[in-house]
Amino acid sequence: MAKRITTRKLVQMKQAGERIAMITAYDYPIARLLDEAGVHMLLVGDSLGMVVQGHDSTIPVTLDHMVYHASLVSRAAERALVVADLPFLTYQVSAEQALQSAARLMQEGGAHAVKLEGGGEMAHTVRRLVDSGIPVMGHLGLTPQSVHALGGFTVQGRTRNAAERLLADAMALEEAGAFSLVLEMVPAEVAGLIRRKLTIPVIGIGAGPDCDGQVLVFHDMMGLTSGYIPRHNKVYAQLADVIRQAAAAYCTEVAEGTFPGDGQTIRLKPEEREALRDLLEEAPATPAR
Ligand code: KIV
Repeated sequence: MAKRITTRKLVQMKQAGERIAMITAYDYPIARLLDEAGVHMLLVGDSLGMVVQGHDSTIPVTLDHMVYHASLVSRAAERALVVADLPFLTYQVSAEQALQSAARLMQEGGAHAVKLEGGGEMAHTVRRLVDSGIPVMGHLGLTPQSVHALGGFTVQGRTRNAAERLLADAMALEEAGAFSLVLEMVPAEVAGLIRRKLTIPVIGIGAGPDCDGQVLVFHDMMGLTSGYIPRHNKVYAQLADVIRQAAAAYCTEVAEGTFPGDGQTIRLKPEEREALRDLLEEAPATPAR
């Protein structure tokens, strides 16, 4: 069995200039494939609210949902570090609340680490989690749980003030003990500055190439998302077309009666047929197809 990626290994990768690949995962079969493909971290993101549950934000996602999906992913991941999001308002009330929520993600969900959104104002909570043995990943820039306060899914850190605030928040999270940081929708120059100032890995999404690693949302990168797709996304496969074509072929074969064919059909052995002969002969002939 492959050796598990650890938070220490991720810091070593940053030091060695090796880039880190993270992808979101929400269920067992996909997590298994991503793990086999060599993805370093699987993020059970609360983006599942949008790409799996069909909501228009991450806000409706509950801790129970996250625990459930984390348990599916962690069961599949043999090598990747599994990070699970703390969903909206399950950690902002108090450090104690955060501790209890994170405990569920790890004990019931099997996650190895948790991610939370927010900067300096979350430093005390991050410290409390880290002191309790819970690895924490920060998340700055566009923080989707604050989409209504931010006024939409917009780029953050464009002005001097905003860039300085981002840097201060990033440093506060590192100081509080976070093992890594996601930077979402931040200009590449600002992300690069933050990466150089921090010793912990900075994982970008819409933050340009000058990060220690990248993360993409599985459904976006595999062409499974309908509707709005962020500009920073790259589509690596058009799975929607593959699935649509396969389902249409199945519908055609069912309609034509060519599925199931001989290969997918279970038949009685001659002696079994003989034993059922009178019963089978009782049924009226079906109309010819
Ligand atoms: O929930 C999520 O998928 C995320 C990524 C966009 C980083 O937080």
